[in-house]
Amino acid sequence: MENQNVLFTIFGGTGDLTYYKLIPAFYQLFLGGRLLNDMTIIVLGRKDKDTTTYRDEVREILMKKISNFNENIFVAFSAKLHYYKMNFEKPEAYEGLNTFMESKNCPNRIFYLATAPKFFPFISEQLKDNKLLDIEGYARAVFEKPFGYDLESAEEINATISDIFGEDHIFRIDHYLGKEMIQNINTVRFSNQIFSAIWNKESIDNIQITVKEKDGVKDRGGYYDHAGALRDMVQNHLLQILALVAMEPPKSLNNHGIREEKVKVLQNLSIETELESHTNLIFGQYEGYRDEVKVDPNSNTETFVAMKCFVKSPRWEGVPFYLRTGKGLDGGEAKIVIEFKVDGSSTPLNAEKIPNLLIIKIQPDEGVYLRINTKEPRSESNLMSVNLSYCQSCDIFYKSPDAYERLLLDILNGDTAMFTGWEEVKSAWELISEVVKKCPDKSKYLDTYPIGSDGPASAHRMIKMDGRHWWRLDDLNNDSE
Ligand code: BG6
Repeated sequence: MENQNVLFTIFGGTGDLTYYKLIPAFYQLFLGGRLLNDMTIIVLGRKDKDTTTYRDEVREILMKKISNFNENIFVAFSAKLHYYKMNFEKPEAYEGLNTFMESKNCPNRIFYLATAPKFFPFISEQLKDNKLLDIEGYARAVFEKPFGYDLESAEEINATISDIFGEDHIFRIDHYLGKEMIQNINTVRFSNQIFSAIWNKESIDNIQITVKEKDGVKDRGGYYDHAGALRDMVQNHLLQILALVAMEPPKSLNNHGIREEKVKVLQNLSIETELESHTNLIFGQYEGYRDEVKVDPNSNTETFVAMKCFVKSPRWEGVPFYLRTGKGLDGGEAKIVIEFKVDGSSTPLNAEKIPNLLIIKIQPDEGVYLRINTKEPRSESNLMSVNLSYCQSCDIFYKSPDAYERLLLDILNGDTAMFTGWEEVKSAWELISEVVKKCPDKSKYLDTYPIGSDGPASAHRMIKMDGRHWWRLDDLNNDSE
């Protein structure tokens, strides 16, 4: 582990992400002995409170959120936690912050910007101009997603921050990359001859990537109404998953090798944007969304997207990648389904063969599931399909740590492998900006769906038109959705 004598400063210290994700992740790392002693966390906020009040707030949240909460551990952990009141939009506030930081006497500094992206360049410039980066050790910067609002804003942000920090010190977060089963995609694919040998158009019929959320926008309406599912989920999490699944075997499985191949996938991805025909792209909005706090009562923001896209490469020619994601749905679930082609050779059994499926279950359960055909016992001629299922969370009772724990540790260790490189972010924005440009008026094609349903009917029609359906884990023994 690298030198941890580090000052970890969080801009946006009183936001939900800090309270509910970052601090709990730090607590768990501390509990597991994975934070070394010399680390100090400073949270910045405009609100008038002191460190004691902040620690009390954190205690309350942790007590509710963490089943193994322990007061003695918390006291030791919270000694690392300091609140510093500051309006980060005011240039004159940075000198005071520097003085406060110097009093902590740490050679290394990490700045975590959990703010709206429009502040990324300004904060970075202030850090530089006020000499907060003139330190003995390293200075790293972490940028929460979304990285920009569109291609232009992302480019502007990137130009400023890369000048100031340099690419090797920049960590662009996509927390899905910290999830256990996303990290497992490469292992499942490249460590098993039965998959690596047939990961192509000859054997794969289609690939489905689903990320469903049960909750609506809750209190994030202000942000979400300007983002929508396309920017909030597809531009980053879903395209990252797609890129990992579809990439060519990298020259090396290190950071640069993987990023290079992911970029190629994103650059070769095509999305047809013709909304009217409902054949490739569906936008939905859950009923009642317009009544949510801080949401425009006439909003046409999509809370659901389903799309069909193709990767233009010899490996994937003609293989559709179906993506769907949304809020206010019938359950929270993320999975990747690889549907194989049905084997055309004849068998002694007369029943219709069911396609083999490989499913990587990302959440809530984590695991790998394979569906194969076999002979029905006692029958001479019947075929039946069975599941070979590995559920990590139920079979070996190992629930992976929250993605943020893993990512925070990587940041502390200076490992950028699980963070997105600029070229990936740029290519993903190019795609999404193109879609947005071609669909300026979604209002006519925005399909509403009841909260708690499985999304608009048009998303089912879209895939049905291709003679396929969305695979649903619950029903796999019987059939599909
Ligand atoms: C975030 C989005 O990036 O991911 C949220 O901004 C979404 O809108 C969240 O709810 C989903 O993450 P997870 O880990 O709960 O699936």
